[in-house]
Amino acid sequence: MIDNIDIQGLMEAAQKVLHANDLGRSTKPAPTLYPHQWNWDSAFIAIGLSHFDENRAQLEINTLLSAQWQNGLIPHIVFNPDASDYHPGPSYWQTEIPEVPCNLQTSGITQPPLLAYAALEVYKNARDKENALEFLRQTYPPLLAQSEFLVQQRSPDNDGLAFICHPWESGMDNSPCWDIPLNNFEMDFKPDFMRKDKKNIPANQRPSDDEYTRYSYLVQRYGQTGWNQQQIFDLKLFQVQSILFNVLHQKSLQALSEIAGLLGESSATTDQMISQVTNSFETRLWDEPSKRYLNLDLKTNQLIHTDNINQFLPLFANIPTPVRADTLIKRLDSADFWSNHGWGISTQAHSSDVYDQVCYWRGPVWINMNWMIIKGLESYGYSDLAAKLAHQTLELVVKHGFFEYFNPETGQGLGSDSFSWTAALVLDLIAEGYA
Ligand code: SER
Repeated sequence: MIDNIDIQGLMEAAQKVLHANDLGRSTKPAPTLYPHQWNWDSAFIAIGLSHFDENRAQLEINTLLSAQWQNGLIPHIVFNPDASDYHPGPSYWQTEIPEVPCNLQTSGITQPPLLAYAALEVYKNARDKENALEFLRQTYPPLLAQSEFLVQQRSPDNDGLAFICHPWESGMDNSPCWDIPLNNFEMDFKPDFMRKDKKNIPANQRPSDDEYTRYSYLVQRYGQTGWNQQQIFDLKLFQVQSILFNVLHQKSLQALSEIAGLLGESSATTDQMISQVTNSFETRLWDEPSKRYLNLDLKTNQLIHTDNINQFLPLFANIPTPVRADTLIKRLDSADFWSNHGWGISTQAHSSDVYDQVCYWRGPVWINMNWMIIKGLESYGYSDLAAKLAHQTLELVVKHGFFEYFNPETGQGLGSDSFSWTAALVLDLIAEGYA
């Protein structure tokens, strides 16, 4: 139990954030900074919604799925036609191509694939199981198609791990993990772009203009290929096997296997993919000298050495052996990541020379990261640590608000206020009994 926290009031406040960001059929991540539907945001949001409005949770997922491309890709943004104050908007993406469903505008890349896991959670949290099973029956084929897209179009070495072609696909846009690959390609034109994000958020909390130049170049250059996956691969601009992305890919495969069981379908192919992903994590992404998982730059075939939160995330998908999990958890439970200030896990080690306590993915605490690590700790039997982290996460939000991210040293809220996944995951932690 957490002392001095009004749990009912916290739940009501969290629901209010989700209601305020509700666009009817989807939920925007934040009131002004992110006015469209985002892929992995909607997965977290659906999990939160499932605790108080299961039909609305299903609708969140169905809306995103209705924007799935013919090749199986689920776009990272589905544009809201009533919102224009975001860059890069639909025309910048050049996605007027046959793969995109009629009458919809989307970005051209994807995002960490959590949707199948979210669909299964929505089912598990449902009171009306018959209705929820029908929801699973309808969503299973498109969710499977997304995983197949990743295996067929994003795994050139057939090792089961998917590569990302843009830092925005990682979900952790300006993480120090991408500093090397992002600066390792030539730009044959200088892209124009307009920063709208810095109108409301202090510039030192957001990615730099140099990073935006390179993000924008990738978007425009890929757009010139008509978003042809083979050509994007052949360009060899940015190709990284991201830990987080593949952890969620694995989590979705595990969910698909479970959904197949519920629907009486065979899960043999999915189960094979799951074994392959686990094996590739151990053989390709585990770095024995530093005893941690690292992201792999596919272009150079080099592991990317930086002391980052990514190393712990495989716990969320039960990938490490118990021995490796123990090693990881010892490192996690150190002042470098889990500072004595008590606000949870920093996204970058404090001792790292690129650690920045306020800049987006370069150090701040994020609620979804705490949440994945809580679930990982729990699944390896570290229930006390899981409970401690869950309590700190809830206290952080109570004391500092439903922010997008937080200063690991002061708890100060950063980025946008009224951030949807912060609210959604608070609801999930409460429902899981951590309050
Ligand atoms: N997260 C990115 C942004 O800041 C893009 O998805 O807009």
